[in-house]
Amino acid sequence: MKREVDLSLAYRLIAPRPVVIITTVDSNGRINAAPFSLVCPVSFDPPRVMFCTDPEHDTYLNVKETKEFVINVPPADILDKVWETARDYPRGVNELEKAGLKWEPSLKVKPPRVVECVAHLECVYAWEREVGDHVMIVGDVVAAFVNEDCIDRSNVLDVRTAKPLLHVGRNVFVIGDKRISAKITRSRG
Ligand SMILES: Cc1cc2nc3c(=O)[nH]c(=O)nc-3n(C[C@H](O)[C@H](O)[C@H](O)COP(=O)(O)O)c2cc1C
Repeated sequence: MKREVDLSLAYRLIAPRPVVIITTVDSNGRINAAPFSLVCPVSFDPPRVMFCTDPEHDTYLNVKETKEFVINVPPADILDKVWETARDYPRGVNELEKAGLKWEPSLKVKPPRVVECVAHLECVYAWEREVGDHVMIVGDVVAAFVNEDCIDRSNVLDVRTAKPLLHVGRNVFVIGDKRISAKITRSRG
């Protein structure tokens, strides 16, 4: 038997989804950070990613203003701090500071990298599109970094050390640290 799900909750059936912390700055250089799970690579060449944001979020206002953002991939052991960055502080408040997270300069963009995160995609705004109650932001990845022990010899994220945090819904998460391999003869991804 299938149970019908209210359409407003249909998105929760596409889960778990990786959670990232997106860092931005406003025109005065004030840092903002917030978790996002509506995030996805959309092109390999050129390397492009997208995320969907409520247009009222400080993240959106900052991206409109300064046209840059950094996608930081947090490990599961900082879940409580990631959760803390989701609190709705007034614009200009640095959620990283509130959550007890550290930051460091990025290589090519003004928003910083979150030190405790295991991977970072530095992005420049390309275009946006209203998609409903969220706005889809597409950005060019201009630099990318990963902790040396979090990527394996075939350039696959080593989830055993990266322990990526995946969101199921509400305050429920999964630790994506178990690796299994499909029996295929050639790589498809
Ligand atoms: C795990 C998790 C995932 C989230 N994903 C999104 C998302 O994809 N898009 C979005 O607009 N808000 C998302 N949120 C909510 C924002 O992080 C939250 O509203 C935050 O306060 C926005 O911060 P800002 O106003 O500083 O940008 C998520 C929250 C959590 C806890």
